[in-house]
Amino acid sequence: MHVINGRGGLPMLQIQTPWSAAEIYLQGASVTHFQLHGEPPLLFLSEQSRFEKEAPIRGGIPIIFPWFGKPEGRTLQHGFARIRNWELVEVRKQTDGSVLVHLSLPASAELLAVPLEYYVTVGRTLMTELVITNFSDREFHCENCLHTYFTVGDIKQVSVAGLQGVEYLDSLDGRTRKQEMENAIRFTGEVDRVYLNTPHAVEIHDAALRRVIQVAKEGSASTVVWNPWIAKAKAMADFDDSEYQRMVCVESGNCTENALHLAAGQESRLKLIVSSASF
Ligand code: BG6
Repeated sequence: MHVINGRGGLPMLQIQTPWSAAEIYLQGASVTHFQLHGEPPLLFLSEQSRFEKEAPIRGGIPIIFPWFGKPEGRTLQHGFARIRNWELVEVRKQTDGSVLVHLSLPASAELLAVPLEYYVTVGRTLMTELVITNFSDREFHCENCLHTYFTVGDIKQVSVAGLQGVEYLDSLDGRTRKQEMENAIRFTGEVDRVYLNTPHAVEIHDAALRRVIQVAKEGSASTVVWNPWIAKAKAMADFDDSEYQRMVCVESGNCTENALHLAAGQESRLKLIVSSASF
């Protein structure tokens, strides 16, 4: 498997397995495409995305680290991991036919002793694992999130299940704490919420594509649900006005009150497993 020039001339890997195809950009270690043969893509990628150095890619799985959103005193939204160039360490075909890609973000001036490793396994499912190791001699505080954009047929026919009873921070209401009452979250306007203490899987039911996407995870206490809807879609230069209808973000990470506090020598493993079934 070779690194080729992807969009905008950015280095990219193309992966084929007996079940699926995927694309990974070294910028941000961004998985921009994952598709099971015979199905529409599982990941959504905006047609208007920029593919420019130091610019985030609009779609796929941007890696949010070391902060989520724009905390006070920060100018860069969602941290720098999604816009840095990661090193490709290895691409390995495994005995079961899946392909494992290992990428690394070495320690830098920004992250003196906290290198990141990212493992992407492309096969019947898509698995990604972000490993953060605190090699410093003091506690390290950070947030992380695999900001996954999923393809849906029609957002008005989508529901997200698995968050009933959970407390969330409503980012559209100054991060006010609320409780999810619905067994299935439906979309009739902009949604931007951080569901807290949610280590379990959630499901995206897509009636238009007759598909259920399962978002399973490990090492993640937060689930972010986001759809920009009409006005925000129009305001985003790297997103088509109508694309809000065909995507939903269900993000797995450790954000806000679930931020990570890694002791010296401690590591965190954040794992995402995406699979789908037709109905
Ligand atoms: C989500 C946030 O995770 O990311 C939203 O909850 C934000 O508030 C969205 O709008 C997209 O962020 P960005 O920086 O990629 O435009």
